[in-house]
Amino acid sequence: MTVNSARARDRAFVVHQHTNLEDHARDGSTLMTRGDGVYVYDEDGKRYLEAMAGMWSVSLGFSERRLAEAAYRQMLQLPYYHTFYSRGHLPSVDLCEKLLSIAPRQPGADELVKVVLQGSGSECNDTAIKLVWYYHNAIGKPRKKKIIGRHRGYHGNTIATISLSGMPTMYRDFDLPLSGFLHADNPHYYRFHEVGETELQFSQRMADNLEKLILDNDPETIGAFFAEPVQGGGGAIVPPAGYFDLIQPILTKYDILFVADEVICGFGRTGQMWGCQTYNLRPDMVTCGKQLSSSYQPISGLMLTKRIYDAMTAQSGKIGSFAHGFTFVAHPVACAVALETLNIYEHDGTIEHVQAVAPIFLDALRSLLDHPLVGDVRGIGLFAGIELMADGAQRMPFDPNLKVGQRVQDECMRLGLIVRCVVDRIAFTPPLIINEAEISELTTLFRQALDIVHAELVGDHEISPQ
Ligand SMILES: Cc1ncc(COP(=O)(O)O)c(C=O)c1O
Repeated sequence: MTVNSARARDRAFVVHQHTNLEDHARDGSTLMTRGDGVYVYDEDGKRYLEAMAGMWSVSLGFSERRLAEAAYRQMLQLPYYHTFYSRGHLPSVDLCEKLLSIAPRQPGADELVKVVLQGSGSECNDTAIKLVWYYHNAIGKPRKKKIIGRHRGYHGNTIATISLSGMPTMYRDFDLPLSGFLHADNPHYYRFHEVGETELQFSQRMADNLEKLILDNDPETIGAFFAEPVQGGGGAIVPPAGYFDLIQPILTKYDILFVADEVICGFGRTGQMWGCQTYNLRPDMVTCGKQLSSSYQPISGLMLTKRIYDAMTAQSGKIGSFAHGFTFVAHPVACAVALETLNIYEHDGTIEHVQAVAPIFLDALRSLLDHPLVGDVRGIGLFAGIELMADGAQRMPFDPNLKVGQRVQDECMRLGLIVRCVVDRIAFTPPLIINEAEISELTTLFRQALDIVHAELVGDHEISPQ
């Protein structure tokens, strides 16, 4: 690394997120310089197949000119305006109208009628938390303030959203979580089912445990339950059969709002426009972000039912204002790019493309089940998780000190494939535009990485050959 190289300057000046800063000071970073379709290239020209679509988010790949042009046009027209004090701008109007026109509409669910635009998934969920509290004050139930998330759920990195998330490693030494957040079971069937327990029986146990959690904590004090249709940051964990069908009546029974966090699932990731459609969810609020703009601009949206919005309106009239807002929220350039993204999904048939390639993707990953390091493969749409196990059939995990997931991830990186390990589970969420040849390349590279790590483990006598 030369003294003035970009990597040296990066090391000197940049604080990296979710990074071991000591390791970083020693090893430095990988700096990406350009993108093309499902690939990104680093400053040495090395190509990587981005099987995580950046942060589960670059749905249209890394070189969609129409999004760049939409941003450029909007910058020339009106580069900034806000939505404070009843002022606004056309791109936000067009985007909210468009978003609501494609919002999830499930039988038996209240219609989503309004959008609070935000800048990130975290802001969006943070605002949803504030609205759970605001709403219950507005309707005269000020005790209904506790919020339930789930273990290994992930909803963001603000003080409140990380408290809602079930990620103890992200609480540590930040003096979190805040009080008032409860966590239900992680519905990870493969890891946690009892011997002989079917998926439905497991889901029933999850639902019973949720009801017990509610009863133990006084239902009159519980305001909302947040869930991702498929848990992303927890490791791409698809819900077991019947799970949401069993959970939702419990929420209704105790008058608990349901917030569906569609920040990863929204816009086709599960093979439908919304995870709510895939799993027949009937939420009171829906948060979305990431793929809303294919991540070309920071923007997210919180959709609300009439019941919530009417209460907010009355409350703001009573106390003088809906006193909530950020400078960069509903940024016109971000709105224009998001609107163009939604138009591309519609006109290019992006969701139909996901439906066509998802079976190929999932079959390709399932073909890895014969590998000695692979215990389980599960997914839906273009969203999958692979469980690495010392003994898959016996569900025996590796000794965490072996860092098998991290080693597989590092090996993938060396081979030019970007995946995400969550302990010993590997997540895959490639750009939605991925094609069959690229899926085949992804699987081949991943198998090579598994082979290399397996050979190391056998060579070091950490595991016996199978
Ligand atoms: C389900 C979910 N919700 C919320 C967030 C937070 O979004 P952001 O990183 O844009 O703040 C994420 C980020 O990965 C997420 O996966």
